[in-house]
Amino acid sequence: MKPLLLIPVLALSLTAGPTSAVEYPLQDTPQSGGAGSVAQSDHNAYSLPQANLPISRRLDFSVGNSFFRNPWVIAPSSTDARDGLGPLFNTNSCQGCHIKDGRGHPPAPGETAVSLFLRLAVPAGPDTDPQLLREHGFVPAPVYGSQLQTAAIPGMQPEAQLNIAWQEREETLGDGTRVTLRSPEYRIDNPNYGPLPDELLISPRVAPPMIGLGLLEAIAEQAIVAAEDPDDLDGDGISGRANRVWDRAEQRTVLGRFGLKAAEPNVMQQSMAAFAGDMGLTSSLAPHTDCTPEQQCERFVDGGDPEVSDKIAAFVNFYAMSLAVPERRDMDSPAVQQGAQLFNDIGCAACHTPRHVTGELDGRPDLSNQVIWPYTDLLLHDMGDGLADGRAEFLADGNEWRTPPLWGLGLTQQINPRAGFLHDGRARTPEEAILWHGGEAQASNDRYRGLPAALRQSLIAFLNSL
Ligand code: HEC
Ligand code: HEC
Repeated sequence: MKPLLLIPVLALSLTAGPTSAVEYPLQDTPQSGGAGSVAQSDHNAYSLPQANLPISRRLDFSVGNSFFRNPWVIAPSSTDARDGLGPLFNTNSCQGCHIKDGRGHPPAPGETAVSLFLRLAVPAGPDTDPQLLREHGFVPAPVYGSQLQTAAIPGMQPEAQLNIAWQEREETLGDGTRVTLRSPEYRIDNPNYGPLPDELLISPRVAPPMIGLGLLEAIAEQAIVAAEDPDDLDGDGISGRANRVWDRAEQRTVLGRFGLKAAEPNVMQQSMAAFAGDMGLTSSLAPHTDCTPEQQCERFVDGGDPEVSDKIAAFVNFYAMSLAVPERRDMDSPAVQQGAQLFNDIGCAACHTPRHVTGELDGRPDLSNQVIWPYTDLLLHDMGDGLADGRAEFLADGNEWRTPPLWGLGLTQQINPRAGFLHDGRARTPEEAILWHGGEAQASNDRYRGLPAALRQSLIAFLNSL
């Protein structure tokens, strides 16, 4: 720590109540994604292969990219490898939501939602089949299934329209600065398959960025589990726990890491779930789309059995595992350095774990044994009622979300100028995202609000340098 920084930080810990006794590391290299990091910081910065990917695998990356980027089409079609879209879907390509391999965004007023969708469920009851809960993690809505599909092929009705209204409110920070926060209200209009169930639970989700996912998969399970503290035995007010989810390939319950509630065990299963749920495309790992018997999807020609061949599945998985993390910028700036220290001191790092070391990943030396700086513990945390969706997924309850990685955060709107932050994109800036932190993160939010403007700006400068 530079002596210059001692005074404000010390003063802060005296006035802001107990901070954690743990010393978190300060990032000492721009290479947030280890040796595979890339130096580009323009609007293509999320779309590059791992810098250390062997030349011999670059073609696999390009082939995977084409199946990620190009639209899938209605069957039958002359583009046989890419047909079978729908009949119900949200959009026709992965890239349609993961815009330029980055995030999606909520729709503008009057616009159809594409890269934000609603997951659906109804509450579990005493009669719920335990096997359904074990393998699915929740009870899908009758007729409408697990996700609201707002698009359909000709001859089929989309499930409904999704409309969002925003409520704004002003909040005042410690020094009198006023900030406007907006919160969404969702309305499902024109349901085409009968009335929606009374007890419908909805969970809005915006597509998250695709960078560094192979590295997150390569973190050893023990390292994630070791950071769990479900009963908050260390008394820091933070009680992260891992999700435990169904692994379809292994047919057993395992650690969850991917998805906004960590409900998927690995990139492959998450990607095949996306083909099935978001695009209506079957694969060996996800042989059923989100079409229910009442919706009679078998009336339509399919694109093969499965529609996504194992070969294409492997290419897409390879691509999704190989997108590089951009290097940090401005690390020498005094404000950024001060912000990095504050991030640790006001308790952000208690969930946004700065540093990990990846383990050994079969066939992927480029992802193995890397020192990485993702700023996540991959654990679930209660984030308070303001962010709650009320819809459980495996062990994650309606208040819990997985700590998202923060690497690459500063480039978010460079990649997609309309992108927002948090699970539903409600936060228009990183500062708004912080101000929404509740539950286990309320204390760090309060500390942020209590900082003088110059120190708040330093913290934001640090986030923008990621
Ligand atoms: C309709 C929008 C949409 C489409 C199309 C889509 N995704 Fe996603 N993607 C999402 C959302 C939303 C999430 C978060 C899912 C959740 O929390 O359940 C996500 C999460 C992911 C993740 C996990 C990221 C993380 O940080 O945990 C991967 C991997 C992924 N998608 C891959 C794909 C692939 C591959 C495709 C194409 C086959 C695809 N997605 C198509 C919206 C989409
Ligand atoms: C208790 C754990 C916890 C603490 C402490 C915490 N966060 Fe978070 N953070 C989360 C979770 C979980 C989310 C996702 C919430 C959601 O999507 O609704 C999140 C989201 C964010 C986001 C938005 C990321 C994105 O991809 O959209 C930013 C930025 C952020 N946190 C920064 C901070 C900062 C700065 C601090 C300290 C002031 C902090 N967080 C403290 C758990 C935490």
